[in-house]
Amino acid sequence: MYKRFLVTGGAGFIGSNLVRYLEQNYNASVLVIDNLLTGSLQNFTDCKPQFIRSDVQNTDWFHKANDFSPEAIIHLASITDTTVASKEIMNTNVDGFRVVLEYASSHKLPIVYASSASVYGNGKPPMSESNTRNPLNIYAESKAKLEDIAKDSKTSVPHILGMRYFNVYGENEKFKGNAANMVTQLYFKMKKGIKPRLFKFGEQRRDYIYVQDVVKITTKSVLQKISYDVLNVGTGNATSFNKIVEIIYKVLGTKLSIEYFDNPIIEKYQNNTIADISRLNQLINASSFYTIEQVLTKWNSEGLES
Ligand SMILES: NC(=O)c1ccc[n+]([C@@H]2O[C@H](COP(=O)([O-])OP(=O)(O)OC[C@H]3O[C@@H](n4cnc5c(N)ncnc54)[C@H](O)[C@@H]3O)[C@@H](O)[C@H]2O)c1
Repeated sequence: MYKRFLVTGGAGFIGSNLVRYLEQNYNASVLVIDNLLTGSLQNFTDCKPQFIRSDVQNTDWFHKANDFSPEAIIHLASITDTTVASKEIMNTNVDGFRVVLEYASSHKLPIVYASSASVYGNGKPPMSESNTRNPLNIYAESKAKLEDIAKDSKTSVPHILGMRYFNVYGENEKFKGNAANMVTQLYFKMKKGIKPRLFKFGEQRRDYIYVQDVVKITTKSVLQKISYDVLNVGTGNATSFNKIVEIIYKVLGTKLSIEYFDNPIIEKYQNNTIADISRLNQLINASSFYTIEQVLTKWNSEGLES
């Protein structure tokens, strides 16, 4: 059982939830490295990680990490806003990963890193890890590249696994702005009385998974050293945009008419993602995962504002 984790991108949405989970459930110490591009120190509620503000590409953090002496690495740092110039996304995500891998291999540390379901593009659902990848944008290409680099680095670290996160939603997404998940964006907008706006005609489907399930899976993957190159992290179910709006109507008890508009990136848009969770089920019982309705009902009863 590890007690000291290095989490890159730990001030972001998934990262800050992971830090809290590790501290509270495993009594672990966490060192976060984050340049606060889309992360924020305000995400550290109910947790106290050690923090280094740095771009992961800059090796200056190595000596401070040596003082901390991590036992495992979870690499989440990434440009996640796909409106950033495409070349920058590719270079930052790939170079950042190479530097973190260099640290992991020189200290013989196990590493779990964030890949993405975006590598499947419009592949046939349910998407299995053995399917051919078909990235539709530079962000997805950068994640596919990470997976290739990881494959080549297998012998230099004791364990390496890529998590193909599907659509993660939950607390602490505020600082992602327009890059936040549809569930979160629609819920908080509709709570303020703003009408839902959906790409025509709202039947695009995504496999949404709650961040508290994601941090549990991520932690288990590090601790149990599951022996695959990549792992789908989804629920095995898909929900359409229209259905999310229906769930929000039910939870908030309000009805705001939907405005449909043309999807400007229709050619490069994932229309239907569903994870094949056969591998994931070997690690955790997926039937225990939260549903969107359960999470939004909880938020509504707690009066969560954003
Ligand atoms: N949220 C999702 O639905 C989802 C889906 C698939 C994959 N992922 C992946 O999961 C990881 C976490 O995503 P998130 O949703 O929490 O996004 P996020 O933007 O909230 O988190 C990314 C974090 O990385 C930091 N960062 C970015 N570039 C950095 C750099 N060069 N050096 C140091 N820190 C840097 C940001 O400041 C931020 O805190 C990312 O790798 C993302 O690609 C997320």
